[in-house]
Amino acid sequence: MTDQKVAEPKETRLPRTNGPASDAPAFPRAGTAAGRRFGPEELEALRQVMESGALNRNAGAIVHKFERAFATYYGRKHCVMVSSGTAAIHVALGSLGINPGDEVITSPITDMGTVAPILLLNAIPVFADLDERTFLMDPASIEANITKRTRAIMPVHLAGYPCDMAAIKAIAARHGIPIVEDCCQAYCCGYQSRWVGQLTEIGCFSLNQHKHITCGDGGMMVTDDDALATRAKLFADKGWPREQGIRDYLFLAPNYRVTELQAAVALAQLPKLASVVRDRRRIAGRILAGVDSCGIFEWMQPVPGAQPSYWLLLARALRRPRDELGRFLIQRGVPAMNGYLSAPIYRSTMLAHMKTFGDSGWPHRAAEIQSPRTYEWGLCPRAERLVAEMFVVQINENYGDEQVAYIIAALKDMAARLA
Ligand SMILES: Cc1ncc(COP(=O)(O)O)c(C=O)c1O
Repeated sequence: MTDQKVAEPKETRLPRTNGPASDAPAFPRAGTAAGRRFGPEELEALRQVMESGALNRNAGAIVHKFERAFATYYGRKHCVMVSSGTAAIHVALGSLGINPGDEVITSPITDMGTVAPILLLNAIPVFADLDERTFLMDPASIEANITKRTRAIMPVHLAGYPCDMAAIKAIAARHGIPIVEDCCQAYCCGYQSRWVGQLTEIGCFSLNQHKHITCGDGGMMVTDDDALATRAKLFADKGWPREQGIRDYLFLAPNYRVTELQAAVALAQLPKLASVVRDRRRIAGRILAGVDSCGIFEWMQPVPGAQPSYWLLLARALRRPRDELGRFLIQRGVPAMNGYLSAPIYRSTMLAHMKTFGDSGWPHRAAEIQSPRTYEWGLCPRAERLVAEMFVVQINENYGDEQVAYIIAALKDMAARLA
């Protein structure tokens, strides 16, 4: 692993997807409903909620039912369902009692939903560099970034691949810091005979349109800790202790309630999760084995003990510019993206220019912050190189033999022609 600096790219807003050429062979379209598994179960569940007339979680029983079902599925004591994965992470950090100026260590290659909740608590995101082979947070870089202000570590199980949790848990235990796992891309993602989301204090999940299961938008936080769960429920509902029959607001908190309609769809989706993961494993396994290390690109490598659940297939271009590879696949009609992010998340306009609370530049420019963090190019050199070299092959559980064979053939052709 090398840490030499990467030059700041001249253009950080590269178009990620060029449409297929007009004469490109068409990717054989598979299945239904944009790669998700929807059926009569979801429609029936929605019909029942509509007929009940109870659409709000406090009027009906379905959100509670889903929370119990998901907690049981994950073998955890509590689940709090909220309106998105972003909300689940906000609720998780809020329930931990993160204070303004506290630091949370996370990944530079992730969705903004990982990072925005840290800032919404006026806390400071700190970015650990990634491992170039696993594309995941490097435990050594996590430890190097721990300061006396660190209040949580948030590993991101990117693309359905688990982080090196043995090493991260050992670091957290050594420093007495809680872990919030971002499992938004990682349902049923195995690590040493368990799933991520079962391994630490809190796991957070997303139900947005693109995830293994979905209800359009939604999210869950799971924990075994009674106090965290109680605070999480309050944090997701304006700080209102409804269950005590009191109309008071105990602390500043958003409203992240989810409707009975969303929960009805999520509840109908949950029994399908095992088959979704099984089929994604089969499809991904065939593609990865069909085009192994071929010299011009390298797949994301799992950590020891990993059993990925494959949200996306991520690869890194070797020898040739990533855009040549991405363009080749896209022009072939393969569902691919020329990169996952156009820059590490800390170079997004919001973070690079601190577009946070009005013009304040908070939390970084708050008077109390003695040595503010900055997010210049060069902060995480390996992640910056990865962002520039990474391309994405999208898969879904509805692919059949035809789609798998098409992708393998296109990857092989790319390897032969661009070698
Ligand atoms: C790793 C990760 N974290 C958090 C989120 C936020 O989830 P949501 O879009 O449901 O808010 C996402 C969403 O894509 C994600 O991929």
